[in-house]
Amino acid sequence: MVAAVILAAGKGTRMKSDLPKVLHNLGGRSLVERVISSLSEIQVDRQLVIIGYQGQLVQQTLQTLPQIEFVEQQEQLGTGHAVQQVLPHLQGYPGDVLVLNGDVPLLRPQTLKLLIDTHRQHQNAATILTAQLANPKGYGRVFCDGQNILKQIVEDRDCTPAQRQNHRVNAGIYCFRWADLAEALPRLRADNDQQEYYLTDVVSDMGQVMAVDVDDYQEILGINDRKQLASAYSILQTRIKDRWMAAGVTLIDPDSVTIDDTVQLHPDVVIEPQTHLRGQTVIGAGSRIGPGSLIENSQIGERVTVLFSVVSDSQVAADSRIGPYAHLRGHSSIGAACRIGNFVELKNATLGDRTNAAHLSYLGDATLGNQVNIGAGTITANYDGVRKHHTTIGDRSKTGSNSVLVAPLTIGEDVTVAAGSTITKDVPSDALVIARTRQIVKQGWRPKA
Ligand code: UD1
Ligand code: CA
Repeated sequence: MVAAVILAAGKGTRMKSDLPKVLHNLGGRSLVERVISSLSEIQVDRQLVIIGYQGQLVQQTLQTLPQIEFVEQQEQLGTGHAVQQVLPHLQGYPGDVLVLNGDVPLLRPQTLKLLIDTHRQHQNAATILTAQLANPKGYGRVFCDGQNILKQIVEDRDCTPAQRQNHRVNAGIYCFRWADLAEALPRLRADNDQQEYYLTDVVSDMGQVMAVDVDDYQEILGINDRKQLASAYSILQTRIKDRWMAAGVTLIDPDSVTIDDTVQLHPDVVIEPQTHLRGQTVIGAGSRIGPGSLIENSQIGERVTVLFSVVSDSQVAADSRIGPYAHLRGHSSIGAACRIGNFVELKNATLGDRTNAAHLSYLGDATLGNQVNIGAGTITANYDGVRKHHTTIGDRSKTGSNSVLVAPLTIGEDVTVAAGSTITKDVPSDALVIARTRQIVKQGWRPKA
């Protein structure tokens, strides 16, 4: 039996931010969400998150996650004090308790498994994750005997110069036999430089405590300031890109590309330079994205090209060509083999197959059938100053250049809209519609002298 306690009550003073540190974003998800997701391969029967500084906000952020209990730490008197808050909630709990700092976002799920396995194999009272860091500044130093039996953890600021030479650090990730921790917690004293109750002090006050080194020290990096947040981002990016390249995706210039770990790519996708893929985005096989594109929460089909464009909350079906300089947003949906480009904006627009809007258009709140051709400069005037209205255009219809389609409006199938028309009334199928003043030619006319 395992329960997990996640420490997320601190302000994170070194971030110099109003936002609680654990809510800072790392590649699309908050630090604390990442910490919680490192539990994904473990069957935990309780998850308790300690909240304090802006606790409501932390609670809101985690609301959609299943099975989380929130425990308030009213005053933040240290990591030991934070864990003391769960004492009444886990009274008599017979299992082990994982304690995770809420600011260690790169931890791999397998590492927690290893921690628990070691803990049980050796029947330890506590097992803590450690790493050898080239630059251990800011971390608690871990002192063990030759058998990895832990004697003491000393915080960086409480270390003597000699102790500081020890590069083995505490990751802030622990597995405790709960009965033993519950007994030791009330005995904590705040006799240190910060006058805080340090969780790390319990290790010198329990039965056998063992340290386990992680292989990849990057997993345990704690985020205390913006610089560490940026390094964590770069580590995360390397992990994500390595994974996609191994899965058959070409990244032409990986350093200039960013990819959230929520994105899914299929084989033979090519990501060109200066391209950013965010949120719940999926890119189908053989598609080519970029250079210079941003795709957010969008589903792109197979063999699509997106060139210098922005696609948000939208879908593009197979073989369509987007850009250069297109903006798709607001739940737009593009059919197969369409062409959208050269300064075209689509908002909440649904297009059938083989429909083109290739130049200088705005299509908002519109439904277009198959094989529609939108002439250069066509605009759906969807907003009357108060409400938004819908435009529908049937299959095979064409709009001439500079058409203004004033919504609400329905244009049938096989309609031709003459260039420069302002259409304000519905047009039946199979028709030519002209709505502009006739050209007048005054032969021999000259300005008066
Ligand atoms: C802590 C460890 C240190 C370890 C490092 C690893 C202690 C005393 N020190 O130091 O040995 O090397 O993590 O990253 O534990 N928190 C609360 N309530 C509080 C104080 C903190 O919930 O009263 C939470 C914070 O929100 C944070 C986590 O605990 O998520 C760690 O706190 P932080 O202040 O960052 O500890 P460090 O100084 O980094
Ligand atoms: Ca920290």
